[in-house]
Amino acid sequence: MTTLGTALIVLAAGQGSRMLSGLPKVLHEVGAQPLLAHALGAGAALDPERVVVVTGHGAARVEAAVGAIAPGAVTVRQDRQLGTGHAVAQARPALADFGGDAVVLYGDTPFIAPQTLRRMAEARAAGNDVVVLGFEAREPGRYGRLITDGDRLDRIVEFKDATETERAVRLCNSGVVMARAATLFDLVAAVGNDNAAGEYYLTDIVQIANARGLRCGAVTCDEAETLGINTRAELAGAEAVFQARRRAEVMAAGVTLVAPDTVFLAADTVFGRDVVVEPNVVFGPGVRVAEGARIRAFSHLEGAQVGAGAVAGPYARLRPGTRLGAGARIGNFVETKNAALGDGVKVNHLSYVGDAEIGAGTNIGAGTITCNYDGVLKHRTVVGTEAFIGSNTMLVAPVSVGDRAMTASGSVITADVPAEALALARARQQNKPGLAVKLRARLLAIKAGLARKAE
Ligand code: UD1
Ligand code: CA
Repeated sequence: MTTLGTALIVLAAGQGSRMLSGLPKVLHEVGAQPLLAHALGAGAALDPERVVVVTGHGAARVEAAVGAIAPGAVTVRQDRQLGTGHAVAQARPALADFGGDAVVLYGDTPFIAPQTLRRMAEARAAGNDVVVLGFEAREPGRYGRLITDGDRLDRIVEFKDATETERAVRLCNSGVVMARAATLFDLVAAVGNDNAAGEYYLTDIVQIANARGLRCGAVTCDEAETLGINTRAELAGAEAVFQARRRAEVMAAGVTLVAPDTVFLAADTVFGRDVVVEPNVVFGPGVRVAEGARIRAFSHLEGAQVGAGAVAGPYARLRPGTRLGAGARIGNFVETKNAALGDGVKVNHLSYVGDAEIGAGTNIGAGTITCNYDGVLKHRTVVGTEAFIGSNTMLVAPVSVGDRAMTASGSVITADVPAEALALARARQQNKPGLAVKLRARLLAIKAGLARKAE
């Protein structure tokens, strides 16, 4: 193993024209995370000391994403996409002082396994100057072909430039390359563009290295790892692969998925043991569900923390900033956003709780709404512990309700309610004896009159 550390060079300048998208290809998402984040996550297996992302199409947006995903990474721009070799060359200034190995990854190839990259590092340590990751393709199609000679890699031919014999080779190039950074840049600098595509091919470094007496080798992996995304259909295929893998992982870690194929997970979803997820639940980014909690059918969660033993759903929507305490209950058709609900809080039916803090043990009656938005500003609602909010209460924020206080059903609460007080904020009821019968008779007479006129 090299003791000088590793640098990642992630190629992310391509347009992805077949996506037909305004969004740079590497920012399309799998598991609620950009493809680029998956590529960087795969590279993290090598514990890289430096990360350089080569941007081009949509550079500003890709750079912003890199800043959010991997704040320590450097971005360099490839203004014109003249080929993969040219793209790698752009990373040279950023790694001029770097003595370790460099690994080239593609930003649109999310599934390279950590173990595969470690095997490449082993092949480097075993005496190969350049290590290329290949795979046996079921349908080699337009992939570059690895031409081997025993355990040596002789050269890589691009499909466009290959002869019939070379095209018959099924060992294909994934694009992942590992070499000492200085060696890689020296080789790339020698690449020309005299080929069928008129591009500077990274793949040409193999032939150049061999001509210089360096040793090149190939490591192979499963084709599923090298899956690159070029179209929306491939994006959907990658999502399916990702979901299948994550479902298996969470079940292996002690989570019950009643109908795994109907549960959609994000790359960063975290579950404690004995969590049960019922059918048809979607997890957006940033969800943590603690031990023993239950997410009931048809719920949608993002940016939410669910406490131990809590129950959400069926048909619950937990939006970003939701924190449910231990044993809390969120029932059907309840939406929460930026809301901290203490232990044992119950919001069982048809409510919106937003920009709120609800103390432990409080019960929020059916149809309660925090009126948090005045059309311009958002305001907070604070409810104490062991309070009881009557059904159909409008909590017009900013407003607070004290510990053990109550609000009467149908109240529109516009002023703070002190602890232990009962707030009644609705019109007093009047009963008019016999008036229902009279009213009905009058209405029937009007209806009969209308019918006569129509004849
Ligand atoms: C490349 C390989 C091919 C391999 C295939 C695997 C070369 C010459 N060919 O072909 O052997 O089988 O990948 O998928 O390397 N990119 C840039 N700047 C550029 C060109 C490309 O950043 O100027 C990026 C793209 O955004 C993409 C990656 O490099 O992420 C690969 O480029 P692409 O054009 O898709 O290469 P292929 O033709 O598929
Ligand atoms: Ca490609």
